Amino acid sequence: MDSGKFPDSFAWGAATAAYQIEGGWDADGKGPNVWDTFTHQGGDRVYKNQTGDVACGSYTLWEEDLKCIKQLGLTHYRFSLSWSRLLPDGTTGFINQKGINYYNKLIDSLLEMSVTPLVTLYHFDLPQPVEDQGGWLSEKTVEIFEQYAEFCYATFGDRIKHWITINEPYFASRLSYESGIFPPGKELIGTGAYRAAHNMIKAHAKAWHIYNTSFKNKQQGRVSIALDSDWAEPLDPNSLADKEGTERYMHFRLHWFANPIFIDGDYPEIMKSIISQKSKEEGLTCSRLPEFTEEEKAMIKGTADFFCLNYYTTRKVKTLSSETLPSKRYGNSDMGAEGITEPNWPIAGVEWLAVVPWGIRKLLAYIKHCFGNPEIFITENGFAQTDPPALQDVHRWGYFQETLMEVLKAIKQDGVNVKGYFAWSLLDNFEWSFGYSVRFGLFHVDFEQANLPRTPYYSANEYAKVVKGNELIYK
Ligand code: NOJ
Repeated sequence: MDSGKFPDSFAWGAATAAYQIEGGWDADGKGPNVWDTFTHQGGDRVYKNQTGDVACGSYTLWEEDLKCIKQLGLTHYRFSLSWSRLLPDGTTGFINQKGINYYNKLIDSLLEMSVTPLVTLYHFDLPQPVEDQGGWLSEKTVEIFEQYAEFCYATFGDRIKHWITINEPYFASRLSYESGIFPPGKELIGTGAYRAAHNMIKAHAKAWHIYNTSFKNKQQGRVSIALDSDWAEPLDPNSLADKEGTERYMHFRLHWFANPIFIDGDYPEIMKSIISQKSKEEGLTCSRLPEFTEEEKAMIKGTADFFCLNYYTTRKVKTLSSETLPSKRYGNSDMGAEGITEPNWPIAGVEWLAVVPWGIRKLLAYIKHCFGNPEIFITENGFAQTDPPALQDVHRWGYFQETLMEVLKAIKQDGVNVKGYFAWSLLDNFEWSFGYSVRFGLFHVDFEQANLPRTPYYSANEYAKVVKGNELIYK
């Protein structure tokens, strides 16, 4: 197969997130979030101590973003709301009308252009006052998030029909509360990520329910969560140990969140038994993995109306024996396995991003099989360039093409119900710990110039052709 049509009304999009593009970090009454605090503290935790204070300036230059969207001919645009722009202290106690005005302008303009918005409520930028009360480690955040979600549905839900509650709870919990690479920089190894994730899952479920009971009838929208996952395969396909390691890898990565939400309201057995056993061996009286009550399980089960997948890469998995386990208890050690990359896989701009287009096809078929053939939106996929990037990114477009071809095979040959594809990202932006050194945009942003001009990469022009024809012509 070297070309092919995508299904009718396939959603073609690009994605961004508030902190990564907006800037205006304290404009018009916005409150501080954890990334504002973290980047302002310096300490070399972000490349060259860069910040999102200005980023792509989308808070003021949003019309420039619309021009990019138009140039691509997108049918959909995924962006996130800055929680602390809307609710400066994170709660509905004080509402910032100027924040509402900003998103109203953006949403109304998108709709005028016939572009369907997909809105993420929370994309890593927790309001600092919420973090100060314990952040995701605290049960209180579940309720605060539910109220924030309710406020967003009430304010924008007349026009927004696709909601994503939380972006990548795997990384949001692991990087913020276990490895400490993301704010608040907590290194609670073996416990922090599990506790944070536990509250995120409950917060997501509550946000789904409040929509379902109070808004769905009238607004007719749908709510989901964006789960990220690698595809994984055994390093040695003949090794039973590596096969079992791969199963554990997928469970600690994807099923951790997808099982409770899409299957039965609870964590996978494999996680529960391993972590409980290890906790016992460590002399703890209860498992480091928190438990859901029966009532919570019933509340969590079935709380996604479609499946949102962020896919970037694939790993070969090697089982770790007790001698090779890392001394620190990062997820690897509970999982008893390690994901590695093949030396011949190209790396796209950033060390973790090994380019493995066929991985997306396998992962899509796996999701179909494990989670009841859901409608799937690929809410992120992309490739980076290092700085300075080439405007003629012919190579990178090749990665996009190969990946899209695999998506097409998943749809046509494997019968996976893929409804849309969102390239990460519309613009070069603040790539978290990597600052502006890693460029994921379809549009180049010149961060040296005050007006932050956007220029299409070769990939943008090629992507526009795919979008226009709803078709991939490959080679
Ligand atoms: C996933 C995250 O959602 C996004 O914020 C990030 O920039 C991309 N991956 C690339 O790392």
